[in-house]
Amino acid sequence: MPRAVSSKHKQGHPPHPIPYQGSKRVLAGSILQYFPQHVARMVEPFAGSAAMSLASAFQQRADHFWINDAHQPLADLWREILSHPRRLADRYAALWGKQLGNERSFYNDVRRQFNTTHQVEHFLFLLARCTKACVRYNASGQFNNSPDHRRKGAKPANMRARIEGAAALLADRTTITSDDYLSVLQHCQPNDLIYMDPPYQGVSTARDSRYAPSIEHDAFCESLAALNQKESLYLVSYDGRTGKKSFGESLPDDLNLQRIELKAGRSSQATLLGRAEVTYESLYLSPTLSALLNRASSPKSAVGVTTGKR
Ligand SMILES: C[S@@+](CC[C@H](N)C(=O)[O-])C[C@H]1O[C@@H](n2cnc3c(N)ncnc32)[C@H](O)[C@@H]1O
Repeated sequence: MPRAVSSKHKQGHPPHPIPYQGSKRVLAGSILQYFPQHVARMVEPFAGSAAMSLASAFQQRADHFWINDAHQPLADLWREILSHPRRLADRYAALWGKQLGNERSFYNDVRRQFNTTHQVEHFLFLLARCTKACVRYNASGQFNNSPDHRRKGAKPANMRARIEGAAALLADRTTITSDDYLSVLQHCQPNDLIYMDPPYQGVSTARDSRYAPSIEHDAFCESLAALNQKESLYLVSYDGRTGKKSFGESLPDDLNLQRIELKAGRSSQATLLGRAEVTYESLYLSPTLSALLNRASSPKSAVGVTTGKR
């Protein structure tokens, strides 16, 4: 069912309340071309800033959503965005105002408080202010990313519009959990559309896995094989390449996935070095999804394909 979105967000792009390194915000339009025209529920086991759920809701491509991220503070932040958007926007505005003239030490104070109490507004403020919107923890689970001194974070009015816009799109029809992806996959229904964007393999350094959750490549591949058995509809963003240099392990051929390369833009590193190299990201489609899209001729014209329970 269509939802009301603030006039600022009616045209163009969906609202993005959570600044997040690795967000699929920029690629969302390209990825969405490989979604069925409409599904009953979309599931994001590695949601992060949930760029694909927001894009699907914005384009009315799903009725219900399941946002999961094993990183507990992120799931808590999503809960607050959807259940108390105004309260969160007010608290963010208060923090944003208090930093003025005192930015560096205020950031450190908020970071200290977050590491003790894990309040959601502190987490949002840290993400808005830290370098590259990157969630980084030390080995004892303390958020330790430093502030970006060139920016003050999204202005309160902009952040309010994004928070309230996201709530208008997703509240009342979204389940939020903070579990390991394996548990989410076990609970998926046959007609769910599952979009997976796991973290770069083996990056976790913190002892407490709630703060820097990760995945094992082999276990992930096994879980995809199990989804194939159930004929699940899923997509995975995984490895990629810049020019000829690839990053991340690719997914094995025996999973029978359709691999698509999406142009993710020009590499800033290569541009600095005077090379015009483009970065591509792999998007893999499950066999069942691939067949469904093929039946509807080409992905771009996948009109009239309706899957899922009603
Ligand atoms: C690359 S990010 C996803 C970005 C997301 N597509 C977006 O648009 O923002 C991967 C996410 O997976 C989460 N994660 C890592 N290991 C996980 C696990 N074992 N189970 C569930 N979530 C996990 C991380 O906390 C992180 O937010």
